[in-house]
Amino acid sequence: MAKKALADLSASDVAGKRVLVRADFNVPLDDSGNITDDTRIRAALPTIQDLTSKGAKVILASHFGRPKGKVVDSMRLTPVAKRLSEKLSKDVVKCDDCIGDDVASKVAAMSDGDVLLLENVRFYDGETSNDPEFAKQLAANADLYVNDAFGTAHRAHASTAGVTEYLSPAVAGSLIEKELKFLQETVDNPQRPLAAIVGGSKVSSKIGVIETLLDKVDKIFIGGGMIFTFYKARGINVGASLVEEDKLDLAKKLEAKAKDKGVEFLLPTDVVVADKFAADANTQTVGVDSIPDGWMGLDIGPDSIKTFQAALADCKSVIWNGPMGVFEMEAFAKGTNGIATTLAGLTGTGCTTIIGGGDSVAAVEQAGLADKMSHISTGGGASLELLEGKTLPGIAALDDA
Ligand code: 3PG
Repeated sequence: MAKKALADLSASDVAGKRVLVRADFNVPLDDSGNITDDTRIRAALPTIQDLTSKGAKVILASHFGRPKGKVVDSMRLTPVAKRLSEKLSKDVVKCDDCIGDDVASKVAAMSDGDVLLLENVRFYDGETSNDPEFAKQLAANADLYVNDAFGTAHRAHASTAGVTEYLSPAVAGSLIEKELKFLQETVDNPQRPLAAIVGGSKVSSKIGVIETLLDKVDKIFIGGGMIFTFYKARGINVGASLVEEDKLDLAKKLEAKAKDKGVEFLLPTDVVVADKFAADANTQTVGVDSIPDGWMGLDIGPDSIKTFQAALADCKSVIWNGPMGVFEMEAFAKGTNGIATTLAGLTGTGCTTIIGGGDSVAAVEQAGLADKMSHISTGGGASLELLEGKTLPGIAALDDA
């Protein structure tokens, strides 16, 4: 990695030091405020434990939700402190603020190896506006900085980028290192054949990633609602399926680019169509050129899964971003589950399988296959931007290696 990492620091660099660690504890809660998925909390543990075992005082900062610069009680990090404390098997002191006198006195009371969690940094406008004064106040209680918030690395905010002006060294934590190893190195220096599976409802949100990946992959599989824009661009009747009319030319260009580059471009051959967008809709499976008027495609069909499986069989690396259908509804989850099962099997044969964040991670978790993949990214937007080849400000701001 071109950036300095926690692994580059010696135990004496951190022992007894106050280390500000930016983590991404933006985890889902149910209506009663219980954490429903603590993946991001568990993913932050190696960095925290590495630091505490070396005698550092760990000051954790994170955002939670989008409170827009105001204190919102339902967006406090209290449930995170509790879960962290359970996972670390030690007390985690929780502050009610992230800057100011109370934080300073709690930090002053810390012993080596202690962990303290600051309150949601987005309770201040200065976080998202990357206000230098706010960044300075966040940095005031620490000696050095570790960014391990991969999920927020695409944001140039005070706690992800601004603080690096005031803390040195500023290094990447082990989660960021791991994410870059899988998401970046697999794309830049893959075991081939390398395939990408890109799904989701809109071409518009995946243009960047498809375009960039077409320069790198040997095969690309397209699924999800965006397939109908590609079919319509080919002149196929798609019934009432979702189509981005203003992206028809783009869809043609992307297919043409794949051809120019010699990239195998696979669209589904059959789809599950429904007479309404609802879990209890009437459904049927049809060939892509036989979608009845008034019906909408909500999943890829069984033949497509078989075709995708066959074409994936010889791949040594696969990156997947975006579901194949409306997997949240059982009737339209088979395509996504079929791909998840296929990738789980491929991992077992030595293929590197990477799930690139967001909905596809939720789908893999829903299918109970998360531990069967080589890597599940903790970043939604961040992993997409990384795959698009964009610079992530939270990483760019760290010290060079
Ligand atoms: C995420 O959940 O994708 C990250 O925590 C970033 O959150 P944001 O989109 O509100 O910046």
